[in-house]
Amino acid sequence: MQDDQPPSDGAPALGKFSILLRLGAIGAVLAAAAGGFAYAGGWFSPGALTQNKIIDTFQAVDGVHEGFRRNHAKGLCASATFASNGAGVPLSKASVFAAGASVPVIARFSIAGGQPYAADSAMSVKSFGLRFLLPGGEEWRTAMIPIPVFPVNTPEAFWEQLDASRPDPATGKPDPAKMQAFAAKHPETAKAIELIKAGPRSAGFSDTTFHGLNAFRFTNAGGQTVAVRWSVVPEQAAPANAALGTDKNALFDALIRQQAQQPVKWRLVVTVGQPGDPTNDATLPWPADRQQVDVGTLTINSLVDEDDGDCTSVNYDPLVLPDGIQPSDDPLLSARSAAYSVSYTRRAGETKPPSAVTASDVRKGEGS
Ligand code: HEM
Repeated sequence: MQDDQPPSDGAPALGKFSILLRLGAIGAVLAAAAGGFAYAGGWFSPGALTQNKIIDTFQAVDGVHEGFRRNHAKGLCASATFASNGAGVPLSKASVFAAGASVPVIARFSIAGGQPYAADSAMSVKSFGLRFLLPGGEEWRTAMIPIPVFPVNTPEAFWEQLDASRPDPATGKPDPAKMQAFAAKHPETAKAIELIKAGPRSAGFSDTTFHGLNAFRFTNAGGQTVAVRWSVVPEQAAPANAALGTDKNALFDALIRQQAQQPVKWRLVVTVGQPGDPTNDATLPWPADRQQVDVGTLTINSLVDEDDGDCTSVNYDPLVLPDGIQPSDDPLLSARSAAYSVSYTRRAGETKPPSAVTASDVRKGEGS
């Protein structure tokens, strides 16, 4: 098993297995939709992979924390506005891209993993969920993370790596032999992890580029369809106080303090695929020379505790899409949709204790 080694910039590097644990456990890396998942997971076979089995395995890895998301459990709500610059119109007829369009967004910042009170660390996988509220009741939901590719390309592999990260009752830690066996069976994961390790590392939330990773399809008013992936690219650097101290909520608190002082913004950037670019395999990058279109700006208006904010009751299901954006053939999409639905249904029926991050307390401490 490869240990974490400090890189030259002083930040801890992610070893191969620690990446899997953080993403698998994304999950600590991770309906027509449900139908697709059933097919992909062999729904009708004995021992089949189902969305309930995936969520049961999250619970086996992280425990049951009533009322919280079974993955990305620790979070903070944000209210935001997306202002389109019109550059997306040739790509998609979605109203969110119309020139001059400005739509409200219910956003959520989170940390991957199922532990709602985990201390923030340099190894935390920061994440960002967006729910764009379009005219006429349409919506676009997306949930993004800061790695360039995903470590797995099928729902089965997602579950296998999650299951391999389950703590061994004898040691309280994942069994390295199971992680080794997973890695040996999945060379695509080893390749993806090399790309993830080589990717940039941000200090805080506000200087992070978040990627949607799965491919989608855009259709314009003329009926032309292209494959796309999207990201949000920060306009600001990390705050000076982003350094992690003893504060358990250091990453969130630094964002709250920075947003109280200055506008915090991201550009929404669409990468346009070419024929032959893989749309069904999130472990594979697209060539670096693909056209990138900056389609507008997302501005955070306010940060709100989960217990008072609108994001807690949102399921950031990646298949909630407006006219002009369609899913690709990536099998992760329907699996995500189905698993998020089970996580949502379970947590919605439970009594949730207060969340760890309290924006109002941080602001009071700053005297703002
Ligand atoms: C089969 C693959 C995956 C599974 C099973 C999975 C599972 C989950 C679950 C159960 C949740 C909690 C949902 C809720 O209760 O609302 C979640 C949240 C999330 N996932 Fe995934 N995930 C997968 C892949 C991905 C990928 C590829 C990305 C990034 C592109 C991603 C990013 C996120 C983010 C950012 C959240 C938090 C959204 C929020 O704030 O509510 N996941 N995931």
